Amino acid sequence: MRRKALIGVLVWVGLGFLLGGLPATAQESKGVPLLSPQMEGGKPLMQALKERATARAFSPEKLPDQILSNLLWAAFGVNRPDSGRRTAPSAVNWQEIDVYVVTASGAHVYEAKTHSLTPVVPEDLRALAGTQAFVKDAPVTLVFVADYARMGKASQEQKDFFAPADTGYISQNVYLYCASEGLATGVRAGIDRPALARALKLRPDQKIILAQSVGYPKK
Ligand SMILES: Cc1cc2nc3c(=O)[nH]c(=O)nc-3n(C[C@H](O)[C@H](O)[C@H](O)COP(=O)(O)O)c2cc1C
Repeated sequence: MRRKALIGVLVWVGLGFLLGGLPATAQESKGVPLLSPQMEGGKPLMQALKERATARAFSPEKLPDQILSNLLWAAFGVNRPDSGRRTAPSAVNWQEIDVYVVTASGAHVYEAKTHSLTPVVPEDLRALAGTQAFVKDAPVTLVFVADYARMGKASQEQKDFFAPADTGYISQNVYLYCASEGLATGVRAGIDRPALARALKLRPDQKIILAQSVGYPKK
């Protein structure tokens, strides 16, 4: 009996090791690769904190590919590849927040493990990413979506508590990166969630928590 249990554990550990070491899943490999993020430079932290602010006016100018890559990595990229841990903390390391990237050329979801974008829908959903008029002008809106299916056996109350907390860290990473780069950004709760959830084809257990627009300041 004990021998059987030991074999069971070994098979389980072996499978975990195998799956952990496998390349990206089929879905991830369909993604559009992002440029490698630049993890050096930027303004000193205290200066970025001094300049952090919410913007509500954006220039329509597109973000360069390198800036988008850096932004997503700063938001919630993998910063410790050995363990797959990220630039923002998450309760129980659930990593349940997905960052959807809404631009003129469609909506994508950020795959941190492969630092790539998986297409979700080809339409420009920017006007749906907030109820305020300026939202449609920003070249990028990040939509933070909690996948409750990833939150183990937590109660509904725990999920409703942890998902917005975990989102806050990601949002602040975005604020600080934008302050460092001289970009404009603003986080928002004002979203028509049912309409945006439908447009992004979310499952009922995927919850839109907040949205955050990023772009250049309006001149
Ligand atoms: C959870 C949360 C929700 C917010 N929702 C909105 C919003 O829907 N629309 C908006 O214009 N600003 C929104 N804000 C931005 C706040 O209004 C802003 O942070 C506050 O006025 C302080 O300004 P500051 O960020 O420049 O310090 C939100 C901020 C947080 C933290």
